[in-house]
Amino acid sequence: MSDFAFEPLVRNAWYIAAWSNELDEGPIARKIMGEDLVIFRGGDGKAAALEDRCCHRGVKLSLGQPVEKGIMCGYHGLVFDGSGACVDNPGEKLNPAYRVRSFPVVERQKFVWIWTGDAEQADESLIIDFPYHDMTDEYNFHFARYDIGANYMFMMDNLMDLTHLGYVHTSTIGGNPQEHDDAELTTTRTENGAHYIRWMMNSTPPPSFQKAVGFEGQVDRWQDFEYVAPSSVLQWGGGHDAGTGGRENRDKPGGMVVRLFQHATPADDDSFHYFFSTAVRGQAYDAPASTAFHEDILEAFLEDKMFIEAQQEAVGKDPGRRLILREHDKAVAYSRQAIHRMHAAEMPAAAE
Ligand code: FES
Ligand SMILES: [Fe+2]
Repeated sequence: MSDFAFEPLVRNAWYIAAWSNELDEGPIARKIMGEDLVIFRGGDGKAAALEDRCCHRGVKLSLGQPVEKGIMCGYHGLVFDGSGACVDNPGEKLNPAYRVRSFPVVERQKFVWIWTGDAEQADESLIIDFPYHDMTDEYNFHFARYDIGANYMFMMDNLMDLTHLGYVHTSTIGGNPQEHDDAELTTTRTENGAHYIRWMMNSTPPPSFQKAVGFEGQVDRWQDFEYVAPSSVLQWGGGHDAGTGGRENRDKPGGMVVRLFQHATPADDDSFHYFFSTAVRGQAYDAPASTAFHEDILEAFLEDKMFIEAQQEAVGKDPGRRLILREHDKAVAYSRQAIHRMHAAEMPAAAE
């Protein structure tokens, strides 16, 4: 397997299983790391993830419904709690042997995180802190998800090299390709990933910025991205009127300031769930600037999906063939290295 194409899956990690608001509608069936799961919030209000297969006759639990003690199988009414134990066996005595597999789950900051590896190692302190989801005075997030047919790391590559913006996203978040290619880029290796900041000083505001808040002239635009292995990207971006001190104080009032959280949860080796949330600072959830930006992102990320799935198809024909990294790809290289470190850390455990 090439170093820079498909990556093996890392099991000992927290992934997004769902957005919190997805569970409001009832149980959902979702394949994560090759496992068919049911994710639900039981009557106790706690989110849980179980294998999507009742231990009685194998029906999918996702066809059932949440009840006070957990989830009730839709076929013969057995109830399983969040630990996978059968806590109600209608018309019969409870039997401790009746259980289904469960996975550690933590719900916080509008994320439902799942640990897919060795449960003993599920350390909640490793979960990324993203307080902006709860800062509703400043940010009101829209939440979305696309299913993409590609190895999850192609999405991380995409986010770690924004020179694609001027080519792929011309009608939305892009802008002038030359300005993207010439952006000042500072890339840093981090303990578990990569960070970069790009500045496009005195540049043309992209259509998304114009639609959301409108700018009279040029802007000083930044893109601040942090990749945290295995598959999260924390994004802080925006622009202020050129020459008004935005570079020294990105948080200053006015302009356009956005926060996004992006994450790729592998469904299997060749497909992933692309979770993303978007917010424009200071805008209500249904304010035109907020919805216009989110709609642009929905459109832009479909463009990424098209390129990434095409990449998967082409690379999949000869996965051992090496790809090239160019100078703009420093963050791509650092993020691939971080994944390799995580994967290497799992190897001894796998070999035991
Ligand atoms: S198959 Fe689930 S209760 Fe029978
Ligand atoms: Fe993109």
